[in-house]
Amino acid sequence: MRALGITLLGQLAFALRSGSNGKGNGALAEPEVAAKRVAVIGAGAGGSSTAYFLSQNADAAGIPVDISVFERGARVGGRCTTVNAWSDPAQPVELGASIFVDVNRILVDAAEKFDLSTASMGAPRAEGAAELGVWDGKQFLVKTSDEDGWWQKAKLLWRYGLAPIKTNSLMKSTVAKFLTMYAEPVFPWKSLNEVVHDVGLADTMAMTGLQFLTANGIGEKFAHEIIQASTRVNYAQNLKLIHGLETMVCMATSGAMSIAGGNYQIFDRMLESSSSISTHLNTSVTKISKQSDNTYNLTTSSGEISSFDDVVLATPLQFASIEIDPAPEHVPDEIPYVEMFVTLFASPHRLDPKAFNLEAGKQVPNFVLTTLPDGEDTGSDPNGVGTPGFWSISIIRTGLNPHGAPSPENIYKIFAPKPAGAKLLSHILGKYISDDEAEHGSRNGAISWIHHKTWHSYPYEYPRVTFDEISLDDGLWYTSSIESFISTMETSALAGKNVAKLIVDRWQGMADGEIVTVQSNEEWGYTGLKGQHQRPLEAEL
Ligand SMILES: Cc1cc2nc3c(=O)[nH]c(=O)nc-3n(C[C@H](O)[C@H](O)[C@H](O)COP(=O)(O)OP(=O)(O)OC[C@H]3O[C@@H](n4cnc5c(N)ncnc54)[C@H](O)[C@@H]3O)c2cc1C
Ligand SMILES: *[C@@H]1O[C@H](CO)[C@@H](O)[C@H](O)[C@H]1NC(C)=O
Ligand SMILES: *[C@@H]1O[C@H](CO)[C@@H](O)[C@H](O)[C@H]1NC(C)=O
Repeated sequence: MRALGITLLGQLAFALRSGSNGKGNGALAEPEVAAKRVAVIGAGAGGSSTAYFLSQNADAAGIPVDISVFERGARVGGRCTTVNAWSDPAQPVELGASIFVDVNRILVDAAEKFDLSTASMGAPRAEGAAELGVWDGKQFLVKTSDEDGWWQKAKLLWRYGLAPIKTNSLMKSTVAKFLTMYAEPVFPWKSLNEVVHDVGLADTMAMTGLQFLTANGIGEKFAHEIIQASTRVNYAQNLKLIHGLETMVCMATSGAMSIAGGNYQIFDRMLESSSSISTHLNTSVTKISKQSDNTYNLTTSSGEISSFDDVVLATPLQFASIEIDPAPEHVPDEIPYVEMFVTLFASPHRLDPKAFNLEAGKQVPNFVLTTLPDGEDTGSDPNGVGTPGFWSISIIRTGLNPHGAPSPENIYKIFAPKPAGAKLLSHILGKYISDDEAEHGSRNGAISWIHHKTWHSYPYEYPRVTFDEISLDDGLWYTSSIESFISTMETSALAGKNVAKLIVDRWQGMADGEIVTVQSNEEWGYTGLKGQHQRPLEAEL
């Protein structure tokens, strides 16, 4: 019955050649080999991991390398960002990606190697409050209770039958297929189009979550109340939209953790791991231009132009404001992304039971997840929040307001399709909140600190079987195609690790006199369904 535990994890359900170093070698016998120059655009999980593994692979192959990472923002991490509650550096909270899980090998290994401590996700418990509840905008359909473990499990068994156990084994077999992408002979993969077939995930990708669950005999009630609550909190998508694989990722919650002080530290350390990596913050790349000798000149915001052998684009091209001249052989498609409004705020108050149709005196659960009420069907509509009006509201931890009373306040996170304004905040807290307080907070008020952020958080994960290429052109690489497959810190890091391997393999192939190209669908025997993949499959259940 461990299955029940995993399914109820909640917010949190993210799962989601040897040789010597060429530097200094053979100084007397041969002239120094010029270092390979690589530009990585973006210092998020994808770009940092690319640089980290590239420097390792190049060292192992004895190829000197000089890696420049360009980051538009003032910090490393990308969508992995912390902000400080009450501007207190001692109280960082995740504004973007917050959770990874124990099957996330790259992140787990890096955390260990860099000696970063992980904090398992335990939220503070209020006396008598359930840990988690699933709210449909009218009532809580299910709440975990403080009752004895066995009694709670018996009730869930009564409600859902064997669905939790079946879901857990379906999740495990699906994740096992994905994990084959980490090792030979599958790794490194040249094209996601191909690898998805090779590892046996094409069918899972081609179906909506609901179709996949139904095909595997998972009961509708459990899918609606638990699994959909999980796809909504993780991806702001319902089961008739999101594909089967990402649905399973949402259920892979075993060993959920985060890095104490902020997940971004993993990526920061990756970039600091080697003297062959230099990171340029506050530096946007504005133009990539391919030269007649197949090198690339990059123009940055400062107007500087420099030349590179390989360029890795580690950010969704559509938001990057980069001109690529001439257009590469494969131009990534524009992908619809979720516009996510995240609100972090601190309050001495708990959520108002009245706002959740609970009797006065009852406690609202720490994590309020949502699903659609019975009879409401938004199909594959991306605007699928429905009656609840928000995706989730959770107390992520408690903290001490440096300007307030000495007792801890609750730090909340809201995921919603609209900014959380005075009206919503007043309603859920049952206190009058002025527009100004909703915008800026007020030191000793009902909202003592608040931070608003809009993200392009992840793609709408419609079922699809074709993906943007990883090799856009000779020496021009793209990590963000993976996001239509699975969008997590780990998968972006995996895409970076994969590109880092492809690059060094190609250099070695070139050195051996092979003609190496790693693109075009035709070469892989695919007829190419490109263009079809952005639309949801029409066939709904
Ligand atoms: C609110 C939210 C919650 C999430 N929760 C989770 C979670 O719990 N667990 C999880 O695993 N994932 C989660 N995710 C998803 C996860 O954050 C992403 O999948 C992952 O971080 C993407 O990493 P990336 O490196 O591919 O892209 P990004 O992190 O977006 O990095 C790209 C970088 O490129 C930079 N850049 C863009 N254009 C240029 C340019 N022209 N020049 C220079 N630099 C440029 C950007 O500034 C950015 O830093 C969440 C995302 C959001 C927004
Ligand atoms: C980047 O810019 C911010 C503000 O715009 C500044 O505070 C910071 O010091 C800059 N960082 C670097 C490394 O230039
Ligand atoms: C490309 O960059 C190199 C090195 O910075 C420079 O010498 C050359 O003029 C650039 N080419 C173009 C077309 O800008």
